[in-house]
Formats: sequence, C-alpha cells, structure tokens
Amino acid sequence: MSPSFQLTRAVAPDSTYAALRRDVLAGLTHSPKTLPPKWFYDAVGSELFTRITELPSYYPTAAERACLAAHSTEIASATGARTLVELGSGSLSTKSRHLLDALPDLHTYIPVDVSESALTLTGQALSTERPQLSVHALIADFTADFTLPVSVGPRLVAFLGSTIGNLLPVERTAFLSGVRDLLDPGDALLLGTDLVKDESVLVAAYDDPTTSLFNKNVLAVVNRELGADFDTDAFDHVALWNPNSEWVEMRLRSRTDQTVKIPELDLTVHFTEGEDLRTEISAKFRRDGVRTELAAAGLDLTHWWTDPQARFALSLSVAR
Ligand code: SAH
Ligand code: TRP
Repeated sequence: MSPSFQLTRAVAPDSTYAALRRDVLAGLTHSPKTLPPKWFYDAVGSELFTRITELPSYYPTAAERACLAAHSTEIASATGARTLVELGSGSLSTKSRHLLDALPDLHTYIPVDVSESALTLTGQALSTERPQLSVHALIADFTADFTLPVSVGPRLVAFLGSTIGNLLPVERTAFLSGVRDLLDPGDALLLGTDLVKDESVLVAAYDDPTTSLFNKNVLAVVNRELGADFDTDAFDHVALWNPNSEWVEMRLRSRTDQTVKIPELDLTVHFTEGEDLRTEISAKFRRDGVRTELAAAGLDLTHWWTDPQARFALSLSVAR
C-alpha cells in the first residue's frame, strides 16, 4: 500500500456490535417491526449491492453516472475543490472516478464508510491509479458525529447514490446539519437524489431476485452476529411505493406464523403469517424539497443537473 494511504477508525470496533444489538432490539420489539439499513452492507451485502447497480431495472446508478460524466468539469470549476470527502463511498466506483479525474487541484480524497473492506479496496486501487493523491479513509458512521482529518480547503463533500433517501426525514435533517458542520463557508455539497416518477419504474428498481437476496441478507447478518435463527426462506421480499411519504419501502413478509430466537439479546420474536418487517426506505425527491431541506441546514442550492431522462438529480450547494 502506498504511503499516501491512511485508514482511520472513527468508531470503536465494539461500538458497532453494541449499536447492532441496540438497533435490533429496538426494531424487533417495535410495532411495526423494523431493522435499520446500515446493517445491509457486510461483505456479502456490499457484493450484492454492486450487482444491483449493474441491473438494467436499477436505473439510478447509470443515471447518476451520466450526470457526473456530463458535469464533473463544471463541478470542478464551481468548487475549486482541493479536498474531496465522499460519504458512503463504498468500493471505488466509476462515478467517484469521474469526480477524481475532473478535479485538477485535488490534493486529498477522504472516503468515509462503515465498511472497512470497501475502504481498503479503495485504498489499494488508488495507490496504483493515483499514486500522487493523498487518500485518508475513515471508518465512520455518517449518521453519528465525526470529525474530518485536517485537510486543505476548499472542500467538496459528495454524497451519491441517493443514499440520503435511505434516511428517515428526521434523520435527513440531522444528517444535513451535521454535513454543514463539517464545512467552512464556501465549501460545497454534491448530493445525488433519485426523483419522484412513475410508480411502476420505481418499484421495478427494487423488485428483482438480487434485491430480494440483498434484503434478506440483513437476516443473515443478525443470525451471524447475534446468533439468531432467522430462516431467510420463511420471508418474502416486498417492495412497495408509499405515495404519501413518496418513498419505496422494502419489507420482509413472514410466510407463516413463526418464532425467531435471538440468544445474544435474550429475545424471542413472534411473526404472524403475512406480518411485515420494514427493512429500508428509499425516498424519492423533487427539486423544491431538496432546495428547502438544504437551505434549512445552511446550504444554498447553486446547481441542479439531471440525466437526459430526468430520472435522477445531482445538486451542488454551498455552505453559508
Ligand atoms: N456511493 C456508492 C455506494 C452506495 S451504497 C454508490 O453511489 O454506488 C451505500 C454505502 O453507504 C455502502 O457502502 C454502505 O457501507 C455505506 N453506509 C450505509 N450506511 C452508512 C452509515 N450510517 N455510515 C457510513 N456508511 C454507511
Ligand atoms: N441508496 C440506494 C437506493 O435507495 C440503496 C439501495 C438500492 C437499496 N437498492 C436497495 C437499499 C435495495 C435496500 C434495498 O436506491
């Protein structure tokens, strides 16, 4: 690994385990039952997510890539970024490469993710592809407080993939003001948001065998980490559009009356036939809503780009 790669853990290893226990206990004793999304992305989940992004029905990745390919140069000149921070960066994507390649003055890249394996792979790839770039990867939870390593301005924070849509509205508000706190006035946020569109197109993006495996993988994570005995075949994957909240909901629907034991939590959970466990939301956005939410966090929208079919938007906003 090149000397210009550093990996810093901003979360204690056992705090991840403690947070998983807390989340699973709270979610499975709540009515309706829920499990929070950040537990999807173990090694298997990350691999399944990569496969999802390659499915023709999962249009957001291709649409966002088209936005980045068309507008990276403009993003570079509007921000003059010398440090690029990417939240939920995953394994180094073509999308991130578009940005890295377009920023002429880039000195430091700070990918932030809960997945250590994804960050290590990113570091390995960049040490051969961009040996001059200083890469400081951060294992951190972007929904919790964390501080950035010392870095030169101007800074650009990128949050792609419409991952913001996986947060509940209250979490989104807290997240955006947290992002604002990482920035100095004049620094920028590049945000990827999937847009409200025809219900059939939206549901099809989340209703296929690979997404079903991805959704059920969260049960495998709970089995492995907490000794639970979820039978993944005893649940059906469900994706549905909630028109009032304007989000797609991913659920796991119990096929039968069944009882699941979670020894490490001393918990027994009963599911009735047809009962849903909500695992994920994916909110869809409109320009006015994005502008208003950014403004409330102290970020002024300066640019709004969509792909040619207007399925997905990239926005640039500047910290006040
Ligand atoms: N940015 C990539 C990957 C999106 S998948 C893309 O656009 O294709 C979401 C990524 O966010 C995964 O790599 C996952 O590990 C990470 N992630 C999810 N919740 C997180 C959290 N709370 N804190 C940090 N990273 C998180
Ligand atoms: N941010 C992505 C999205 O909302 C994550 C995602 C894609 C996802 N497919 C999924 C999350 C399936 C859970 C289940 O589109």
